[in-house]
Order: sequence, then C-alpha cells, then structure tokens
Amino acid sequence: MAVRILTLVGSLRAGSHNRRLAEAAVQIAPEHVEVGLYDGLDTVPFYNEDIDAEGSVPAAATKLREAAGEADAVLLVSPEYNGTIPAVLKNAIDWLSRPYGAGALSGKPVAVVGTAFGQYGGVWAQDEARKAVKIAGADVAEDLTLSIPGSVVRFAELHPVDDPEVTEKLTVVIEGLAARATATATV
Ligand SMILES: Cc1cc2nc3c(=O)[nH]c(=O)nc-3n(C[C@H](O)[C@H](O)[C@H](O)COP(=O)(O)O)c2cc1C
Repeated sequence: MAVRILTLVGSLRAGSHNRRLAEAAVQIAPEHVEVGLYDGLDTVPFYNEDIDAEGSVPAAATKLREAAGEADAVLLVSPEYNGTIPAVLKNAIDWLSRPYGAGALSGKPVAVVGTAFGQYGGVWAQDEARKAVKIAGADVAEDLTLSIPGSVVRFAELHPVDDPEVTEKLTVVIEGLAARATATATV
C-alpha cells in the first residue's frame, strides 16, 4: 500500500508559490507514495479551548484532524510572514496538537519545506514550524529541509514542478519522509 503524505500549505492566496510547491510534490511523488494537498485551512476557526470540547468542535477542525490522522506523514509547505509562521499554519498546528498527548500529529513523521521572498527562503518560519510540531508530539524529520529564496522572482513564470533543482531536492524530502513513515509503521 502507498505511503500517504498529507500536505498543509501556509499560504491561502490563489497564486501561492508554496501551494504550487505542494502541487509539485503531488506530481513528482514516486509510485509508492501518495501526496495529498489539504484544502480548507481557511475555514478552520482560530483555536479556542472553549470550542474544543465534546459536541462543540467545528466541523472544519474535525475534518483537518481526521485528514492528518489518516495520513502516514505530514509535509508542511510554508512561506515566512514577518519572520515567523503564517497564522493559518500555526492555527492548524494548534488544532492538531490537541487533545494533549494524543493529537493527530502525535508520533507522526513531519517534514517542513517552503519558499519565501527573502534570501533565506523562509527558514525562520520553517524552523518555527518544526519547533511547534515537535512540541505537538510529531516525529520531526530535522534533516529533511528545503528553503527556496526569492519566491516571487524565481517562480514568477516558472512552476516549481518545471524547476529541476526544486524537483530534485523535493524528491529527496518526499522519499525521506516516506521512508521515515514506513520505519515508524514497522516499529
Ligand atoms: C504579511 C507578509 C509578511 C512577509 N514577511 C516575510 C518575511 O518575514 N520573510 C520573507 O522572506 N518574506 C516575507 N514575505 C514575502 C513572502 O515570503 C512571499 O510573498 C511569498 O511568496 C509568500 O508565499 P506564497 O507565494 O506561498 O503566498 C511576507 C509576505 C507577506 C504577505
């Protein structure tokens, strides 16, 4: 059976370069890996413990938790906003971090990649995302990184799937994450 990787994107805009990077991951995934692109992070309300209670959890949050729970691994694809994680992605991580100790990310292999306009490719945001999911209990693949600088210029005309340097490095991340998920499943 294929290893299922769920991709969560930290940008909501239609023309998002990170969304395109996630689309590239879907397209280049090797045969034994199925990469899915999650839609609907914009409909998940801000995390609030008052509504994270039996009978009150918003449907969009339940859908997100179920999707992450069913995946063998999660790939976060994010730009950097003001030196850190975009709120939409942090909100998703917060929902996935609860119930405490038993959230959908618990023990789940997670890798973080992304592209941003700055010269470091959003590495602060991606490092922060790693920190947050680690605290949420994920099995973070610290060695599987990809931070692509100059998003707005580099991908102005070029889809990441048509950028050989990107697809080569992204393939390493996907294969490494899938291998980690397989190893976790067989422990
Ligand atoms: C609110 C906001 C804050 C940003 N802050 C940063 C930043 O701190 N570092 C950076 O490299 N780029 C920053 N950028 C530029 C983004 O990295 C760039 O627009 C990126 O392509 C956005 O991702 P997307 O194309 O997936 O929407 C910021 C953009 C916005 C809209």
